[in-house]
Amino acid sequence: MSSSKKLITCLSIILVVVLSCTQSVHSQLQVGFYMNSCTFAEFIVKDEVRKAFIQDEGVAAGLVRLHFHDCFVRTGGEGYYVPAGRRDGRTSLASEASTNLPPPTLDVDQLTQSFANKGFTQEEMVTLSGAHTIGRSHCTSFSNRLNNFNGTRSQDPSLDPMYAARLKEQCPQGSTDPNLVVPMNPSSPAVTDVGYYIDILANRGLFTSDQTLMRNPITANQVNQNARNPMLWRLKFAAAMLKMGQLGVLTGNAGEIRTNCRVINS
Ligand code: HEM
Repeated sequence: MSSSKKLITCLSIILVVVLSCTQSVHSQLQVGFYMNSCTFAEFIVKDEVRKAFIQDEGVAAGLVRLHFHDCFVRTGGEGYYVPAGRRDGRTSLASEASTNLPPPTLDVDQLTQSFANKGFTQEEMVTLSGAHTIGRSHCTSFSNRLNNFNGTRSQDPSLDPMYAARLKEQCPQGSTDPNLVVPMNPSSPAVTDVGYYIDILANRGLFTSDQTLMRNPITANQVNQNARNPMLWRLKFAAAMLKMGQLGVLTGNAGEIRTNCRVINS
């Protein structure tokens, strides 16, 4: 993919993240929400993200993940219109992240339940997991699969041995370096494509929660379909991302607009 296409994909994602964690068909969120109050808001966001992306491609992955985490915890592709108008919550608890976010050790039934708790179908769960086609992971998130898997003193048998060997080089056993990271889709870590599904078909899903999709015939079939049909996956992904942005929306006078995004207004 050319760098300009990559950028457009990234900007689309960014707009979703920044503006969409926001609305619902039933809420007051709408496309063009800032048109009158701040005409250039979307342009400014786009431009700032473009600049950030030029400096660091990882920004795209960070924002997509932020969208997932923000929308999942406190439900307080190609270009597509994103409704805006969501306000910030007054509560932000680290403890809620650990109880609401699925850990990478879950199996397919547990993942299905976790997403169902937020109103998502199993297919939407498989679709959204495709976000792992970009970005990086810390070794600590999957090192249990490399050594002494389930007390066997060996690696996870569902992991491709050659891939496991490479991961062991990148994540040496016993290393205490918390900064060690690997790309989640090594062949194209900054491109939003169906590489995630292709990896899984080759037993190269990085997390247990990725590879487990092959353990259920229905989700395995969806992995197959997505791998073979990038356009279809993109459409489903865009729809599911918008749906995620509709979780627990605050609009009108609810919540607040933070002066500093990191903290609630005092
Ligand atoms: C299906 C359940 C999911 C699990 C168990 C899961 C787990 C994880 C884990 C463990 C990491 C690596 C964290 C680290 O070690 O640094 C990660 C990264 C990431 N996840 Fe997920 N995730 C899930 C679903 C999603 C969804 C639905 C999205 C977005 C739609 C998403 C987007 C991302 C992205 C973009 C990254 C890379 C972040 C970066 O490079 O900065 N994940 N995920």
